[in-house]
Amino acid sequence: MTTGLWIILDHVVALLCTTAWFGSGVALTLRRTRLALACLVAAVLVTLVRVGTVAILAGRGWWFAQEKALLELPLLGAAGAAAVVLAGRKLLTTRRGQGSGASLGGVVSVFTAAYAALAGLVATFLVGYPLTVGTALITISLVCAGALLTARVVTSTADNTADVDIAQIPEDRGAISRRRFLAWTSGAVMVTAAGAGTGLSFLPAESVTRGGGPGRSSRTAVSVADLRGADSPAPGGTVRRHILTAKKATVRLPSGREIDAWTYDGEVPGPAITATKGDLIEVRLRNADIEDGLTLHWHGYDVPCGEDGAPGVTQPVVTPGAEFVYRFRADQVGTYWYHTHHASHIGVRKGLYGTLVVQPRDGQRADEQSAPQQVDLTLPVHTFDGTVVIAGRDGQTEQPASPGASVRLRLINTDSDPHRIVLAGTPFRISAVDGRDLNQPGDVSDIGLRLPAGGRFDLVFVMPDTAVAVVVDDDLTGGLRLRPPGGASARIGDTSALPELDLLRYGAPAAAPFDPRKADRHFTMVLDRGVAMVDGRPAYAHTVNGRGHPSIPDQLVAEGDIVRFTVVNRSLETHPWHLHGHPVLLLSRDGTPSTGSPLWVDTFDVRPGETWEVAFRATNPGIWMNHCHNLPHAHQGGMMLRLCYDGVTTPFGGSHGRSPGHGH
Ligand code: C2O
Ligand code: CU
Repeated sequence: MTTGLWIILDHVVALLCTTAWFGSGVALTLRRTRLALACLVAAVLVTLVRVGTVAILAGRGWWFAQEKALLELPLLGAAGAAAVVLAGRKLLTTRRGQGSGASLGGVVSVFTAAYAALAGLVATFLVGYPLTVGTALITISLVCAGALLTARVVTSTADNTADVDIAQIPEDRGAISRRRFLAWTSGAVMVTAAGAGTGLSFLPAESVTRGGGPGRSSRTAVSVADLRGADSPAPGGTVRRHILTAKKATVRLPSGREIDAWTYDGEVPGPAITATKGDLIEVRLRNADIEDGLTLHWHGYDVPCGEDGAPGVTQPVVTPGAEFVYRFRADQVGTYWYHTHHASHIGVRKGLYGTLVVQPRDGQRADEQSAPQQVDLTLPVHTFDGTVVIAGRDGQTEQPASPGASVRLRLINTDSDPHRIVLAGTPFRISAVDGRDLNQPGDVSDIGLRLPAGGRFDLVFVMPDTAVAVVVDDDLTGGLRLRPPGGASARIGDTSALPELDLLRYGAPAAAPFDPRKADRHFTMVLDRGVAMVDGRPAYAHTVNGRGHPSIPDQLVAEGDIVRFTVVNRSLETHPWHLHGHPVLLLSRDGTPSTGSPLWVDTFDVRPGETWEVAFRATNPGIWMNHCHNLPHAHQGGMMLRLCYDGVTTPFGGSHGRSPGHGH
C-alpha cells in the first residue's frame, strides 16, 4: 500500500477513534450503560489500531508521523488509560447490576480522551509537520480546558438533579473552596500555556536555512540586477530578436470558440521562439494593458539570474506602459517554454505563455541523418475553461506525415495539473525530458506517460505507413493525428487501461558529473496543508515545513556546492516541484534509487505520500524561486521559497510578486 493511502487510512481511523470516544462519553451521560461500554471498547480498539497506522507512517518517514507520535498519541493514550480505569471498571460493575454506571472521573476522563483524539486530528489538519512547542502547548491547554469545563458541567447538572452517584457524598465547605481554588489555578495555568503557545506560533521563522553548510560569508555582494546575459551570440550564431507586447485579446479557436485571453502579441500560445545553439535571444517585453503587470520567465532554461523574470526578486514587475528586455545566449538545446511569473496562477491560465525550442548547431541529430523527411512539432498542451488546447488548436487536429519521416513531438504541459499522454500507433522513444536528452532510451509502446505541470517530453519515432495518434488524458475525441497522405485515419482503442511508464527505470544509467552522496548542503521540504501566513495574511495554505511564502526561510547555498533536496509530500494533492535556474538530478523516489537514464529535470511530480531525493550543483549564482508548479498552490497558497546564493542581493524588494506599486 502506498504511503498516500496510509495517510488517508490514518485520517479515517483518527476520525473513527474520535467518534467512538465521544460516543462513549455521550452514552455515559445518558446512562446508556451497554452502549457506553460498547463504545468504550470500540474506542480502545480503534485507538490501538491508530497506534498501528501511526507506526506504519513513521516507518515510511518520520515526517509523516511526527506530531501524531509525539503529541496526539501520548495525549490520547494518557486520557484513554485514565478513562479505562475510571469509567471502564464502573461500567463493568454496573452491567452486573450494581451502581449507575457514571462517575465524575469516568465521564470527564472519557470526554478528555475524546477531546485529545479530536485535538490530534485538528492539529494534523491545521498544523502538521514540524510539531512546534507552540502547537503542543495550545493543544494540551485546549484538551485540559475541555476536561475542566466538562467537570464543571457534569458537577453542576449532578448537583441540580441531586444525582447521588455523580455528585457522590455531599462535600463540606472546605472541600468546595479547595475545589474552586484548584479549578481557578489550573484554569490560569492553561490560559497562560495557550497564550504562550500562540505567541510562540507567531514568532517569525529564521530567515535562512543553511542545510548544514556554512552561513553567509563576508564576500562582496553582487546584485541580481548585474547578473545579466551575454549581449552577443557565440561565433557563427545570429541574434533572434522579438518584441512581445502583452495585451488582452479575444482569441478564436479552430472550433469557433472564443476565449478572452491575456496574450503575448495577441496570440495564444505566444509567438514561438526558436534558436540554434549559440544564438543570442533578445526579447523586448512590453505591457499594453495587463493591469496586474507581468514578466517573462524562461521555464527550465538556465539563464543568468537577472533574466529569470521573477518579479520583486530579479526585476520589477512590468506594468502597463513599461517594458523589460531579456537577453541571453541559447546555450541549452531542447524544448522549453516561457510564461509570466507574476500572479501566474491567473496570467498563465489566461494565456501568457509560449514555447522556446533550441536546435543543435551541427545540423541534424545523429539518429535523423538518413531520414527522408523531418517532422518536428512543438505541442504545448493548455486547458482553457476545461477544453484542452494543443498548440493553439482545440478539438482533434490532423497533420500529414510521410511514411519513413523522422518525427519529433515536443509535448509541453503548460497547465497546473499533470497530463496523461499516450502515443498510439507506433513504438517510440522518449528522447528528452525537460529539454535534456536521455541516455539510451529504448522503444516503448502501449504505455501512458505522465507529464507533470511545466514538464516536457520529446517523443521520437519513424513514421509508419499507418496513422499515429497523440491522445491526451485518454480523450479520443481530441488530440493530434499524424496521417500519411492518403492513408486511412487512425483507429485508436481505449487508452485508459494502459500502464504508466516509470521514467526512473527507463533508459540506461550513466555516471553523474558529481557524487550526490557528498552533498555540501541538504534541505528537506515537507509539503502539506495548514494554517500559515501567506503574504502577511493567515490562510489555509499550501505549506513548506509548516510555513507559507514569504515566511519560508531562504535556502542558502554557495557557488560550487553540491546541494541535495529531500521533498516529502504529506498532503493529499500532487505537487510538481520546480527549481529555477538549475536542472536537478533525480536520485530516488520513496527510497528506491533511479536505475534508468540519469534524469535531469526542472519539474518532478511529488505525489501524495511520496518522498523524493534530488541533487544539483550550484553553478548559477542568483536568487532563485523554488516552488510548486501547480501555480495556484504557489501564488495563492504560499508554496514558494527562495534559493539564495551567498553574496547575491536584490534591489527589487526581495519578496516575490510584491514589487513596488503592486499587491496581490
Ligand atoms: Cu514555470 Cu517559477 O516557473
Ligand atoms: Cu503544489
